[in-house]
Amino acid sequence: MKIFNSKIQISQTIVNLKLKGYTIGFVPTMGALHQGHLALVSQALRQNQVVIVSVFVNPTQFDKKQDLIKYPRNINTDVALLKTVSEDNILVFAPSVDEIYGHNVSSSCFDFDGLEHEMEGRFRDGHFNGVGTIIKRFFEILKPNNAYFGEKDFQQLQIIKKLTEKEKLPVNIIGCEIYREPSGLAMSSRNQRLTKHQQTDAAFIYKTLKDVKMMFATKSINDITQWVSDAFKKQPLLHLEYFTIADINTLKPAQTKSSRITYRAFIAVFIKDIRLIDNIAL
Ligand code: PAJ
Repeated sequence: MKIFNSKIQISQTIVNLKLKGYTIGFVPTMGALHQGHLALVSQALRQNQVVIVSVFVNPTQFDKKQDLIKYPRNINTDVALLKTVSEDNILVFAPSVDEIYGHNVSSSCFDFDGLEHEMEGRFRDGHFNGVGTIIKRFFEILKPNNAYFGEKDFQQLQIIKKLTEKEKLPVNIIGCEIYREPSGLAMSSRNQRLTKHQQTDAAFIYKTLKDVKMMFATKSINDITQWVSDAFKKQPLLHLEYFTIADINTLKPAQTKSSRITYRAFIAVFIKDIRLIDNIAL
């Protein structure tokens, strides 16, 4: 498995692979890899001859400096995990901050038609400008045919689709299902910080989303939202930050149901200072 730190070297390698007629899949990550990331890599390997996995903790998408400092970094463990998926056909791109940003570690400002102002956008200032900046830069360096993003971060996935459409970037964006623990808890790098007890409690998040899916057939959005709020009040260790049922295209919160619109339920929950997000198709 080849590991690149230099953008010139990896882009030259990719040019040569493309000349051979290979298609290039791309899985961007911030490392601290888990089975959820590996599921994206496996899907990319099934659909492309070569897969690039970037491991880069992107400073411009963190609104809190402490979160950036505390973010786990261990390239050796990440590479070892990737080798369990395939020894061949994976290129790892792990550049330094300097290699990507030079002396200007800042975001561009994007207009994602309002997608950036909903849900995560309300609670994480400038986050999606940072994500847009790094993904656009990676697409320009790596020129992948297909890029893979998890539905775990559904808002991010929709924003990347909007980015490629608006900036006319020639990449297919492929959304991948949420990979879960046996308990239903969505896999996340943050789950490592949960105690065993907290992990058991956190399973309540997906259980609630499944109940919401059932209720959606018969109950109003208002009633469901109230029910979720009440249910979390009975969970002393879980603090509900938001619960929203939204149109998947605009991500605007829905008040009433229309048969022409596809909805998803979105949730963010704190366990102590650990913030977990999840969502479900309705
Ligand atoms: P990161 O949190 O490392 O996630 C990398 C990719 O893995 C994202 O597309 C995310 O949605 C996906 N993913 C994480 N957990 C998943 C799960 N349980 N099931 C399915 N997919 C999952 O998201 C980022 O990094 C960054 O914002 C990034 C896109 C790399 C830009 O810096």
